[in-house]
Amino acid sequence: MEVKRIAVIGAGLMGSGIAQVAAQSGIEVNLMDIAQQFVDKGISNIEKNLERMKSKGKIDPSEAEAVRSRITGMLSIEQAAKTADVIIEAVIEKMDLKKDVWQRLEEASPSETIFATNTSGLSITELASMTRRPGKFIGMHFFNPVPVMQLVEIIRGYATSDDTVAVIKDLTRRMGKTGIEVQEAPGFVVNRILVPMITEAIFVLQEGLATPKEIDDGMRLGANHPMGPLALADLVGLDTLLNVQQHLYEEFGDSKYRPPALLKKMVRAGRLGRKTGKGFYDYS
Ligand code: CAA
Ligand code: NAD
Repeated sequence: MEVKRIAVIGAGLMGSGIAQVAAQSGIEVNLMDIAQQFVDKGISNIEKNLERMKSKGKIDPSEAEAVRSRITGMLSIEQAAKTADVIIEAVIEKMDLKKDVWQRLEEASPSETIFATNTSGLSITELASMTRRPGKFIGMHFFNPVPVMQLVEIIRGYATSDDTVAVIKDLTRRMGKTGIEVQEAPGFVVNRILVPMITEAIFVLQEGLATPKEIDDGMRLGANHPMGPLALADLVGLDTLLNVQQHLYEEFGDSKYRPPALLKKMVRAGRLGRKTGKGFYDYS
């Protein structure tokens, strides 16, 4: 199957990045969200990135224009679904919400459309059970920021077919990314390893052992991480991080995955990191 057009459901941090990278690879994109302001924010994020690339001479002005013209923002999930060869879902990391979205997508999509979720670690099999095509359902897990990060985890659910894996591997390559194939398990591979490290950094802060800057400098300068774990938490979004931690904790029942009280308090206070202007650091 040659993928000519995809639908990206959710125009947030990840959805907008996925749409940009797909459009840069020559693929047409239907970018859908629930309110115009979210569609506009996603598209303006893409436009800013293209502007930056133009000013650095990394893309021709005419090519930037062509990339932008491949992306169509929309509010109707049915309209987004009906012309897409592959649908990539990137809505908020909540099982019930994602199930509802996939049920609607099943009703709106031609039977040959392939369904991919960008979940950070929820069960692919459980989401696939909301559709009549579990063989055509797969995890396609991009990393943040999508235009920069090279990896896509390609996750097989219980019934994912080899043909579906082949189409998504090819799409990953076309988008200039490197895929690794993994079996389904909570948090898959990378978040299973990365998230406990970020969690531990928040416990270190909660225990008053060091300031956020000292903790982050420690991991940047002492372990050569490109950014410290608290800055990374702010980049991911503290709400998303908490959802991932809670899922790991519930699924494994192991206290090493328990979310720190400090993180819960910050999310309840609406300090969600870069996307709200304040998290462990102030971005205002
Ligand atoms: N969108 C597009 N491009 C971006 C960007 C963004 N949000 N942020 C940075 N860039 C680009 C810059 O334009 C710059 O491009 P050029 O090299 O072409 O000039 C390049 O990335 C480097 O940026 P900076 O010089 O500003 O900053 P940096 O060197 O510190 O890099 C970073 C920034 C790429 C974010 C780097 O700090 C990094 O790799 N951090 C770790 C990111 C990470 O671990 N991500 C995974 C998160 S976990 C996840 O995604 C899974 C999940 O399910 C939660
Ligand atoms: P986000 O909050 O930035 O964006 C989510 C978007 O989904 C919002 O714009 C919201 O309006 C939209 N949305 C909510 N309900 C919807 C619906 N019913 N239909 C269509 N759109 C709807 O979140 P994000 O960081 O982009 O995360 C999206 C997904 O990607 C999550 O599953 C998350 O776990 C995963 N993910 C996140 C990261 C990260 O670092 N933030 C990395 C990899 C994967």
